[in-house]
Amino acid sequence: MAINIQNFLSSNAKNMRRSAIRDLLSVANRPEVISFAGGFPNAATFPIEDLKGIMQEVLETEGTSALQYGPTEGNQKLRELIAKRYSEKGCKVSAKNVLITTSSQQAIDLTTKIFINPGDTIVCGLPSYLGALQAFWSYQAEPVGIKCDSDLENTVKELIAQGKKPKFVYAIPDFQNPSGVTMDLEQRKYVLDIVKRYDLLLLEDSPYRELRFDGVEQPMMYSLDDDNRVILLGTFSKTFLPGFRIGWIIAPEEIIDRLVVAKQSTDLCTPVFDQAVAAKYLEKGLFEKNLQKTIALYREKRDHMLACFEKYMPEGVTWTHPEGGLFLFVKMPEGYDARELFDIAMKEDVAFVIGEAFHCDGSGKNTMRMNFSFMNAERTEEGVKRLARAIDKMINK
Ligand SMILES: Cc1ncc(COP(=O)(O)O)c(C=O)c1O
Repeated sequence: MAINIQNFLSSNAKNMRRSAIRDLLSVANRPEVISFAGGFPNAATFPIEDLKGIMQEVLETEGTSALQYGPTEGNQKLRELIAKRYSEKGCKVSAKNVLITTSSQQAIDLTTKIFINPGDTIVCGLPSYLGALQAFWSYQAEPVGIKCDSDLENTVKELIAQGKKPKFVYAIPDFQNPSGVTMDLEQRKYVLDIVKRYDLLLLEDSPYRELRFDGVEQPMMYSLDDDNRVILLGTFSKTFLPGFRIGWIIAPEEIIDRLVVAKQSTDLCTPVFDQAVAAKYLEKGLFEKNLQKTIALYREKRDHMLACFEKYMPEGVTWTHPEGGLFLFVKMPEGYDARELFDIAMKEDVAFVIGEAFHCDGSGKNTMRMNFSFMNAERTEEGVKRLARAIDKMINK
């Protein structure tokens, strides 16, 4: 007799939602499609030659420990190096405040796991990072979106009045995914003030922070917090290698302690060899050098995509001008649906991510996310041209 899996699934599993991005990517996988859909770093930034030497060195000098199980907290040298980098940017951090995670997606998952009970609310942006929303849903949290920071206090008050006080606020303050927008100092202080006044936690997720092309660097909210309320997430995925799957959580020691227990039952430890290689790479000063090259490459790519948008996009379409990160966020006039556009665009062999996927309340139907880091200049221009043609077809049909 065939079993009915539905009768066995946990309520957590029933609450999980499939990633619309991954589903779309599978449609956009044909080689003739110019896809701006993924959030992929450019492979030209991967320091393959340097890594060959470092991997050899790690195998020769620390092979037995680098291929063994490691501590759940992570490679001690790497924790120290990360703590030092954050200390230099004004954060009070020692290695004890750093937990190495299997990239920041796991960091979001573990943080949600230790704080969320089914039905708890989390305040996030409209739009916000889909992978975080997926983690929140998988623990039966209810993400509540706000369109702009100034809505935060009213939203928190309303939730409290309904007996649904949020556990934390989830913010991506630097070159947000998907919008590319950065919070200024005033906004950061305002959010921290609300978090403090209403006794909430703040999850500051900042994978793109170091990919700044121009403009003025803003302080991390973690560095502005005098109350131990901020949990800060970082990753090597966008600045070094997504394939290593190395990220980290920076938090007060008692939170790190809880997260360590949660990580023990998840994967025991983050790949030990990758951590040893990353620590050596950082120690030799190669990370900073490579990062500068990556920033220069992505600045050029952003400028090129913006120029193509100026040249080809029909009237009524608007887009963000990010000072860093990997994405532009595009808005069509109200009333148009990016899902419908996606089908037309697929006939033109060009792909993007529909913005609705990043809105936990189902809004944002007229928006889309475009990645500029991955594609070469020629394909970018051709892709933007095709997208503009698809929008024209939809608007003038
Ligand atoms: C805002 C944000 N957080 C977290 C992640 C997860 O990245 P990773 O798990 O590769 O560190 C991403 C990836 O795109 C992201 O955009």
